[in-house]
Amino acid sequence: MPKKLEAAHLKGVCEACKAGRDALLDGNGSVNAIADALVILEDDETFDAGVGSFLNSVGDVELDAGIMTGDSGDFACCGAVSRLRNPILACKKLLEIAPNRLLVCEGMHKFAEENGFELIDNDELKISREIERYKNKSAPVEKYFLPSDTVGAVALDEYGQIAAANTTGGTPGKLPGRVGDSPIVGCGIYAGPNAGIAATGYGEPIIKTVLCKCVYDEYSKCKDIDLATNHGIGILSLYGWGGVIALDKEGNSAARHNTTKMPFARWDEKNNKIEKKISNPL
Ligand code: GLY
Repeated sequence: MPKKLEAAHLKGVCEACKAGRDALLDGNGSVNAIADALVILEDDETFDAGVGSFLNSVGDVELDAGIMTGDSGDFACCGAVSRLRNPILACKKLLEIAPNRLLVCEGMHKFAEENGFELIDNDELKISREIERYKNKSAPVEKYFLPSDTVGAVALDEYGQIAAANTTGGTPGKLPGRVGDSPIVGCGIYAGPNAGIAATGYGEPIIKTVLCKCVYDEYSKCKDIDLATNHGIGILSLYGWGGVIALDKEGNSAARHNTTKMPFARWDEKNNKIEKKISNPL
């Protein structure tokens, strides 16, 4: 990540963390907290989620998103949606009212529209930076490299419920209809009674690793969220690049990655402090 992009990333994750914190302080629970945090990141062009996402091989934005709760193991996810500004809010609605849990493309658009969400033109999600990157496909990767990827959030509320969520525009130049790890339970997202985890990075290796369930299962054995995330990233490293944020039921959190940097923020309730960081691998 070029140094000049760090400030925008830190600002974005910090604003998102504040929104999540405010929802928790208002007693709105972990699902609303992570959804509020993700809306901030979806609306922030810095990140590959919502507006400003990478374009696919035909020059469109297609988004994946997902949300999962730890107590019931319920989840609600969508894949390859192109007409929703904030797919995480439609996932939250799906979680609340629908009998089915993963909708893609037109199915999710139909569900969203029937439940009061505006269907936008795909052009509204495209920005000049990404149009330029798309037009210069053959340029060296460093020229247009942008360090953003999937955005995620994990929260534990006063009722003891852990929830995890993420949103992504996926990888640049992906095939239309490609769905990555983000809305796949156990891969890009997982929450159970013990912990919640959200992943970022290249979807195919993350799916191969079943990364978030891998971290969850290790945590259930060793009861140390930092060791568990280290274990998961160790296995991911056999296949590719990415990172995770994780939170256990005691409120301990961890952030690990094998990329050069990963921006994150966390709210420390005891000291009422928000820590923001561009983390480097340990
Ligand atoms: N993690 C984003 C993707 O590969 O879809």
